[in-house]
Amino acid sequence: MSTTATDLSPAAAAFDVRPTDVPLADAEREALMASPTFGTVFTDHMARVTWTADAGWHDRRVEKHGPLLLSPASAVLHYGQEVFEGLKGYRHADGSVWTFRPQANAARFQASARRLALPELPVEDFLGSIEALVRADRAWVPSGEETSLYLRPFMYASETFLGVRPSREAEYVVIASPVGPYFSGGVKPVSIWVAQDYHRAGPGGTGAAKCGGNYAASLLPQQAAYAQGCEQVCFLDAATNTFLEELGGMNVFVVLASGEVVTPGLNGSILEGVTRSSILTLLQEAGHAVTERPVPLAELLDGLADGTVTEVFACGTAAVVTPIGRLAGDGFDLTVAGGATGAVTSAVRTRLTDIQYGRTPDSHGWMHRLV
Ligand code: COI
Repeated sequence: MSTTATDLSPAAAAFDVRPTDVPLADAEREALMASPTFGTVFTDHMARVTWTADAGWHDRRVEKHGPLLLSPASAVLHYGQEVFEGLKGYRHADGSVWTFRPQANAARFQASARRLALPELPVEDFLGSIEALVRADRAWVPSGEETSLYLRPFMYASETFLGVRPSREAEYVVIASPVGPYFSGGVKPVSIWVAQDYHRAGPGGTGAAKCGGNYAASLLPQQAAYAQGCEQVCFLDAATNTFLEELGGMNVFVVLASGEVVTPGLNGSILEGVTRSSILTLLQEAGHAVTERPVPLAELLDGLADGTVTEVFACGTAAVVTPIGRLAGDGFDLTVAGGATGAVTSAVRTRLTDIQYGRTPDSHGWMHRLV
């Protein structure tokens, strides 16, 4: 059941709140929140939990947002043993603040940690840390259209040790950032460059984990996308260089003229997106046939050429539902849906955000009250 504004959950109460002695003045905070660009402005506090192999998880606290003390020999700086999550706090019309399916993020965080040989954070600590932080920084949750408080939980190997083995110390931290739309142009169709020379992840690799290394691997191809005048890169599978996998930080959906919607199936190298799974449910409820299966790039290109593919969109916590208006790669450059936002994309985006912002009843029990 959701918590109410007055009852702090036991999981959040386990966090010792040590308020900053230098909170930002109201006027300064409001100025920063007036048009928040994604990931550039941070709140007054952060939540933390420390882990050691001997003591387990301990020292749950909310403290001043600030630099982390890290030895230059910390394992994360050398071997990239790190995982993260992304979720949002949404302000509803009555002033309450809610988040979306945080249990799913908590479970994925555990799965990512397992893959990176990091300790698994208990679900209660994941939920408690978010609630405790958002309560401390509730004034930072924006209320404008398309705005939210982006929450970034992460964990890194903090042991001072250069041997290559799993760290015996880890630090879990949550930071928060008031945000507007992920893409600087606002909510409008984006252009995609399909990478045919680079892959994001391979069979047996870390593609299904949300770890920094996957995103690091996407940056050079992302630069190639920029060089081609595109905003995002789309990866193909490493084994055959044939099937769509995902974008640099988003899942991808293809809408067919028949009304069917297809998305690459979870093959072990695709991130199991919370937005992806929610969209599958919402599309089904709207009467669409939805299919998770391998999607050949060739099928997509043929479909765009002959009209059997009518829309393509990307989705993720940060990107929500983002229409794709152009798909380019070596030897092709195609306009999608006339470069506009298609009807299916638009409808599922509205349905999802209406739930997230409390504009429609949450019949799935997806929303979790924080404040
Ligand atoms: C998210 O959608 O929350 C992500 O983590 C994707 C990106 C911002 C890295």
